[in-house]
Amino acid sequence: KHKVIFDTDPGIDDAMALLYLHHHPDIELLGITTVFGNARIETTTRNALYLKQAWDIAAPVAKGAGVTLDPARVDREPPTIVHGDNGLGNIAMPEVIDLPLDPRPAHRFLIDTIKAHPGEIELVAVGRMTNLALALREAPEIAGLVKQVVIMGGGITANGNVTPVAEANIHGDPEAADAVMTAPWKVVLIGLDVTAKTIMTRAQLADIGRAGGNRAQLVVDVSQYYLGFYETVVADGMMVHDSCAAAYVTNPELFTTQSGAIRVVCGGIADGQTIQKPDGRGFPPNPWDGFPSQLAAVGIESEKVLKLIHDVI
Ligand code: BDR
Ligand code: CA
Repeated sequence: KHKVIFDTDPGIDDAMALLYLHHHPDIELLGITTVFGNARIETTTRNALYLKQAWDIAAPVAKGAGVTLDPARVDREPPTIVHGDNGLGNIAMPEVIDLPLDPRPAHRFLIDTIKAHPGEIELVAVGRMTNLALALREAPEIAGLVKQVVIMGGGITANGNVTPVAEANIHGDPEAADAVMTAPWKVVLIGLDVTAKTIMTRAQLADIGRAGGNRAQLVVDVSQYYLGFYETVVADGMMVHDSCAAAYVTNPELFTTQSGAIRVVCGGIADGQTIQKPDGRGFPPNPWDGFPSQLAAVGIESEKVLKLIHDVI
Protein backbone atom coordinates (compact mmCIF):
# COMPACT_ATOMS: atom_id res chain seq x y z
CA LYS A 1 0.00 0.00 0.00
CA HIS A 2 1.04 3.59 -0.62
CA LYS A 3 1.68 5.30 2.70
CA VAL A 4 0.44 8.86 2.15
CA ILE A 5 0.45 12.07 4.14
CA PHE A 6 -1.95 14.62 2.68
CA ASP A 7 -0.87 18.24 3.08
CA THR A 8 -3.91 20.35 2.27
CA ASP A 9 -5.87 23.61 2.57
CA PRO A 10 -9.47 22.37 2.40
CA GLY A 11 -10.72 23.71 0.12
CA ILE A 12 -13.33 22.22 -2.15
CA ASP A 13 -11.15 20.30 -4.61
CA ASP A 14 -9.04 19.32 -1.59
CA ALA A 15 -12.12 17.65 -0.09
CA MET A 16 -12.64 15.55 -3.20
CA ALA A 17 -8.97 14.52 -3.23
CA LEU A 18 -9.17 13.57 0.44
CA LEU A 19 -12.10 11.27 -0.18
CA TYR A 20 -10.18 9.68 -3.06
CA LEU A 21 -7.18 9.00 -0.81
CA HIS A 22 -9.40 7.74 2.00
CA HIS A 23 -11.41 5.37 -0.21
CA HIS A 24 -8.67 4.01 -2.43
CA PRO A 25 -7.90 0.42 -1.41
CA ASP A 26 -4.20 0.75 -2.26
CA ILE A 27 -3.65 3.81 -0.09
CA GLU A 28 -2.99 3.97 3.62
CA LEU A 29 -3.56 7.54 4.77
CA LEU A 30 -1.19 8.20 7.68
CA GLY A 31 -1.99 11.83 8.33
CA ILE A 32 -3.58 15.04 7.21
CA THR A 33 -1.54 18.21 7.65
CA THR A 34 -3.22 21.56 7.15
CA VAL A 35 -1.91 24.79 5.72
CA PHE A 36 -3.38 28.23 5.04
CA GLY A 37 -4.44 29.04 1.50
CA ASN A 38 -8.01 28.56 0.36
CA ALA A 39 -8.94 30.00 3.77
CA ARG A 40 -7.08 31.01 6.93
CA ILE A 41 -5.37 28.27 8.89
CA GLU A 42 -8.04 28.09 11.62
CA THR A 43 -10.63 27.53 8.92
CA THR A 44 -8.74 24.98 6.79
CA THR A 45 -7.93 23.05 9.99
CA ARG A 46 -11.56 23.10 11.15
CA ASN A 47 -12.55 21.93 7.68
CA ALA A 48 -10.07 19.05 7.79
CA LEU A 49 -11.53 17.96 11.14
CA TYR A 50 -15.04 18.29 9.74
CA LEU A 51 -14.19 16.00 6.81
CA LYS A 52 -12.36 13.56 9.10
CA GLN A 53 -15.50 13.32 11.22
CA ALA A 54 -17.94 13.15 8.30
CA TRP A 55 -15.99 10.40 6.57
CA ASP A 56 -14.74 8.54 9.62
CA ILE A 57 -11.10 8.97 8.72
CA ALA A 58 -8.72 7.40 11.23
CA ALA A 59 -5.65 9.45 10.29
CA PRO A 60 -4.78 12.33 12.63
CA VAL A 61 -5.02 15.98 11.62
CA ALA A 62 -2.01 18.17 12.45
CA LYS A 63 -2.36 21.93 12.19
CA GLY A 64 0.23 23.65 10.05
CA ALA A 65 1.46 27.03 8.93
CA GLY A 66 -0.75 30.08 8.91
CA VAL A 67 1.72 32.44 7.26
CA THR A 68 4.40 32.31 4.58
CA LEU A 69 7.91 30.98 5.18
CA ASP A 70 9.42 34.42 4.67
CA PRO A 71 7.78 36.61 7.32
CA ALA A 72 8.46 39.69 5.21
CA ARG A 73 5.93 38.54 2.62
CA VAL A 74 2.47 40.01 2.72
CA ASP A 75 -0.04 37.18 2.50
CA ARG A 76 -2.82 37.28 -0.05
CA GLU A 77 -6.43 37.38 1.03
CA PRO A 78 -8.10 33.93 0.79
CA PRO A 79 -9.82 33.31 -2.58
CA THR A 80 -13.38 33.38 -1.23
CA ILE A 81 -14.86 33.69 -4.72
CA VAL A 82 -13.54 30.18 -5.47
CA HIS A 83 -14.02 28.31 -2.17
CA GLY A 84 -16.53 30.47 -0.25
CA ASP A 85 -16.06 32.29 3.06
CA ASN A 86 -15.78 29.02 4.97
CA GLY A 87 -13.47 27.30 2.47
CA LEU A 88 -16.06 24.61 1.74
CA GLY A 89 -18.51 26.39 -0.50
CA ASN A 90 -20.46 28.00 2.37
CA ILE A 91 -22.24 24.78 3.35
CA ALA A 92 -23.69 24.87 6.86
CA MET A 93 -21.05 23.61 9.29
CA PRO A 94 -20.38 23.81 13.03
CA GLU A 95 -17.95 26.55 14.06
CA VAL A 96 -15.95 24.07 16.14
CA ILE A 97 -15.48 20.33 15.58
CA ASP A 98 -15.23 18.24 18.71
CA LEU A 99 -12.24 16.15 17.69
CA PRO A 100 -8.67 16.42 18.98
CA LEU A 101 -5.84 17.66 16.81
CA ASP A 102 -2.48 15.92 16.78
CA PRO A 103 -0.47 17.78 19.45
CA ARG A 104 2.39 18.48 17.05
CA PRO A 105 2.60 21.25 14.49
CA ALA A 106 2.29 19.87 10.96
CA HIS A 107 5.98 20.15 10.06
CA ARG A 108 6.94 18.19 13.19
CA PHE A 109 4.30 15.57 12.41
CA LEU A 110 5.80 15.28 8.91
CA ILE A 111 9.35 14.85 10.24
CA ASP A 112 8.35 12.24 12.83
CA THR A 113 6.20 10.22 10.45
CA ILE A 114 8.78 10.26 7.67
CA LYS A 115 11.46 9.07 10.10
CA ALA A 116 9.19 6.32 11.39
CA HIS A 117 8.76 4.92 7.84
CA PRO A 118 12.06 5.54 6.06
CA GLY A 119 11.77 5.33 2.27
CA GLU A 120 8.04 4.69 2.34
CA ILE A 121 6.17 7.95 2.71
CA GLU A 122 4.58 9.69 -0.25
CA LEU A 123 3.65 13.30 0.41
CA VAL A 124 0.70 14.62 -1.53
CA ALA A 125 0.88 18.39 -1.17
CA VAL A 126 -2.02 20.39 -2.56
CA GLY A 127 -1.77 23.71 -0.74
CA ARG A 128 1.06 26.14 -0.13
CA MET A 129 4.41 24.40 0.38
CA THR A 130 5.05 26.07 3.74
CA ASN A 131 4.78 22.98 5.97
CA LEU A 132 7.12 20.97 3.74
CA ALA A 133 9.66 23.80 3.66
CA LEU A 134 9.52 24.14 7.45
CA ALA A 135 10.08 20.40 7.82
CA LEU A 136 13.07 20.53 5.45
CA ARG A 137 14.52 23.50 7.30
CA GLU A 138 14.27 21.76 10.67
CA ALA A 139 15.34 18.29 9.49
CA PRO A 140 16.97 18.40 6.04
CA GLU A 141 17.77 14.69 6.31
CA ILE A 142 14.10 13.84 5.68
CA ALA A 143 14.66 14.54 1.97
CA GLY A 144 16.56 11.26 1.72
CA LEU A 145 13.81 9.34 3.51
CA VAL A 146 10.75 10.27 1.45
CA LYS A 147 9.61 8.11 -1.47
CA GLN A 148 8.14 10.97 -3.49
CA VAL A 149 6.48 14.36 -3.18
CA VAL A 150 3.49 14.78 -5.46
CA ILE A 151 2.54 18.43 -5.70
CA MET A 152 -0.50 20.12 -7.14
CA GLY A 153 0.90 23.46 -8.09
CA GLY A 154 2.51 25.62 -10.71
CA GLY A 155 2.79 24.71 -14.33
CA ILE A 156 5.65 24.77 -16.78
CA THR A 157 3.86 25.17 -20.10
CA ALA A 158 0.50 26.58 -19.02
CA ASN A 159 -0.34 30.06 -17.82
CA GLY A 160 -1.20 30.84 -14.22
CA ASN A 161 -4.49 31.21 -12.41
CA VAL A 162 -3.67 34.04 -10.01
CA THR A 163 -1.34 36.02 -12.24
CA PRO A 164 -0.59 35.48 -15.94
CA VAL A 165 2.27 33.16 -14.93
CA ALA A 166 1.63 31.92 -11.38
CA GLU A 167 -0.62 29.26 -9.89
CA ALA A 168 -2.21 29.77 -6.45
CA ASN A 169 -0.39 27.16 -4.37
CA ILE A 170 3.01 28.35 -5.54
CA HIS A 171 2.19 32.05 -5.68
CA GLY A 172 0.94 31.85 -2.09
CA ASP A 173 4.44 31.02 -0.81
CA PRO A 174 7.10 31.07 -3.55
CA GLU A 175 10.11 30.83 -1.21
CA ALA A 176 8.68 27.69 0.36
CA ALA A 177 7.94 26.19 -3.06
CA ASP A 178 11.47 26.87 -4.32
CA ALA A 179 12.92 25.15 -1.25
CA VAL A 180 10.73 22.11 -1.89
CA MET A 181 11.49 21.89 -5.64
CA THR A 182 15.25 22.16 -5.12
CA ALA A 183 15.57 19.72 -2.21
CA PRO A 184 17.21 16.35 -2.90
CA TRP A 185 14.00 14.34 -2.98
CA LYS A 186 11.83 13.20 -5.85
CA VAL A 187 9.23 15.81 -6.75
CA VAL A 188 6.43 15.32 -9.26
CA LEU A 189 4.73 18.56 -10.21
CA ILE A 190 1.10 18.10 -11.20
CA GLY A 191 0.44 21.62 -12.42
CA LEU A 192 -2.04 23.58 -14.44
CA ASP A 193 -0.51 21.97 -17.56
CA VAL A 194 -2.67 18.96 -16.74
CA THR A 195 -5.17 20.01 -14.07
CA ALA A 196 -6.66 22.83 -16.14
CA LYS A 197 -7.56 20.22 -18.76
CA THR A 198 -9.20 17.88 -16.31
CA ILE A 199 -12.70 19.24 -16.02
CA MET A 200 -15.48 17.37 -14.28
CA THR A 201 -18.87 18.28 -15.69
CA ARG A 202 -21.97 18.96 -13.61
CA ALA A 203 -23.42 15.68 -14.88
CA GLN A 204 -20.33 13.67 -13.88
CA LEU A 205 -20.36 15.25 -10.44
CA ALA A 206 -24.05 14.53 -9.97
CA ASP A 207 -23.42 10.93 -10.89
CA ILE A 208 -20.77 10.65 -8.18
CA GLY A 209 -23.44 11.74 -5.71
CA ARG A 210 -26.01 9.27 -7.03
CA ALA A 211 -23.63 6.33 -7.05
CA GLY A 212 -21.59 7.12 -3.94
CA GLY A 213 -24.10 7.62 -1.14
CA ASN A 214 -23.80 10.17 1.68
CA ARG A 215 -20.04 10.48 1.68
CA ALA A 216 -19.87 11.30 -1.99
CA GLN A 217 -22.91 13.55 -1.65
CA LEU A 218 -20.89 15.79 0.66
CA VAL A 219 -18.39 16.30 -2.17
CA VAL A 220 -21.28 17.21 -4.45
CA ASP A 221 -22.70 19.65 -1.90
CA VAL A 222 -19.46 21.51 -1.23
CA SER A 223 -18.69 21.63 -4.96
CA GLN A 224 -21.78 23.60 -5.99
CA TYR A 225 -20.21 26.95 -5.09
CA TYR A 226 -16.93 26.02 -6.82
CA LEU A 227 -18.84 24.95 -9.94
CA GLY A 228 -20.47 28.36 -9.98
CA PHE A 229 -17.04 29.99 -10.01
CA TYR A 230 -15.53 27.61 -12.56
CA GLU A 231 -18.39 28.04 -14.95
CA THR A 232 -17.28 31.65 -15.33
CA VAL A 233 -13.92 30.23 -16.54
CA VAL A 234 -14.84 27.05 -18.46
CA ALA A 235 -18.04 26.13 -20.30
CA ASP A 236 -19.37 23.26 -18.19
CA GLY A 237 -17.78 21.91 -15.07
CA MET A 238 -14.88 22.45 -12.73
CA MET A 239 -11.16 21.76 -12.60
CA VAL A 240 -10.41 18.98 -10.13
CA HIS A 241 -6.85 20.13 -9.48
CA ASP A 242 -6.07 18.34 -6.23
CA SER A 243 -7.63 15.04 -7.25
CA CYS A 244 -5.23 14.89 -10.20
CA ALA A 245 -2.32 14.79 -7.74
CA ALA A 246 -4.07 12.07 -5.73
CA ALA A 247 -4.69 10.06 -8.90
CA TYR A 248 -1.01 10.29 -9.86
CA VAL A 249 -0.07 8.34 -6.73
CA THR A 250 -2.05 5.29 -7.78
CA ASN A 251 -2.03 5.70 -11.58
CA PRO A 252 1.10 7.46 -12.84
CA GLU A 253 0.66 5.73 -16.21
CA LEU A 254 -2.17 8.16 -16.97
CA PHE A 255 0.35 11.03 -17.03
CA THR A 256 3.34 11.92 -19.19
CA THR A 257 6.15 13.81 -17.53
CA GLN A 258 9.21 15.81 -18.44
CA SER A 259 12.32 15.80 -16.27
CA GLY A 260 14.58 18.65 -15.31
CA ALA A 261 15.39 20.97 -12.44
CA ILE A 262 12.49 23.17 -11.36
CA ARG A 263 12.83 26.61 -9.79
CA VAL A 264 10.33 29.14 -8.54
CA VAL A 265 10.58 32.84 -9.26
CA CYS A 266 10.60 34.75 -5.96
CA GLY A 267 9.66 38.40 -6.45
CA GLY A 268 9.03 40.77 -9.30
CA ILE A 269 6.35 40.58 -11.97
CA ALA A 270 6.77 36.80 -12.39
CA ASP A 271 6.54 36.13 -8.64
CA GLY A 272 5.50 32.51 -8.10
CA GLN A 273 6.16 31.26 -11.62
CA THR A 274 7.54 27.72 -11.88
CA ILE A 275 10.22 27.15 -14.52
CA GLN A 276 11.77 23.86 -15.52
CA LYS A 277 15.09 23.46 -17.32
CA PRO A 278 14.57 20.27 -19.31
CA ASP A 279 17.37 17.75 -18.79
CA GLY A 280 19.89 17.76 -21.58
CA ARG A 281 19.39 21.39 -22.51
CA GLY A 282 22.71 23.12 -22.03
CA PHE A 283 23.02 26.66 -20.76
CA PRO A 284 25.91 28.65 -19.38
CA PRO A 285 26.10 28.43 -15.57
CA ASN A 286 22.67 29.34 -14.33
CA PRO A 287 20.39 29.18 -11.28
CA TRP A 288 19.27 25.67 -12.22
CA ASP A 289 22.74 24.10 -12.00
CA GLY A 290 23.37 21.61 -9.24
CA PHE A 291 19.71 21.10 -8.38
CA PRO A 292 18.01 17.74 -8.68
CA SER A 293 16.09 16.81 -11.75
CA GLN A 294 12.36 16.66 -10.96
CA LEU A 295 9.34 15.54 -12.93
CA ALA A 296 6.65 17.88 -14.23
CA ALA A 297 3.49 16.45 -15.73
CA VAL A 298 2.92 17.71 -19.26
CA GLY A 299 0.25 15.28 -20.42
CA ILE A 300 -2.77 13.59 -18.86
CA GLU A 301 -5.46 11.20 -19.97
CA SER A 302 -8.17 13.39 -18.50
CA GLU A 303 -11.16 11.19 -19.27
CA LYS A 304 -9.52 8.19 -17.61
CA VAL A 305 -8.51 10.26 -14.58
CA LEU A 306 -12.07 11.57 -14.21
CA LYS A 307 -13.47 8.06 -14.43
CA LEU A 308 -10.94 6.86 -11.87
CA ILE A 309 -11.94 9.61 -9.44
CA HIS A 310 -15.59 8.76 -10.00
CA ASP A 311 -15.07 5.06 -9.43
CA VAL A 312 -12.90 5.43 -6.31
CA ILE A 313 -15.13 8.01 -4.62
C1 BDR B 1 -5.04 25.07 -6.26
O1 BDR B 1 -5.40 26.23 -5.50
C2 BDR B 1 -6.51 25.95 -4.71
O2 BDR B 1 -7.56 26.82 -5.01
C3 BDR B 1 -6.96 24.57 -5.02
O3 BDR B 1 -7.36 23.88 -3.85
C4 BDR B 1 -5.80 23.91 -5.67
O4 BDR B 1 -4.97 23.25 -4.73
C5 BDR B 1 -5.35 25.34 -7.72
O5 BDR B 1 -4.61 26.41 -8.20
CA1 CA C 1 -5.76 22.84 -2.45
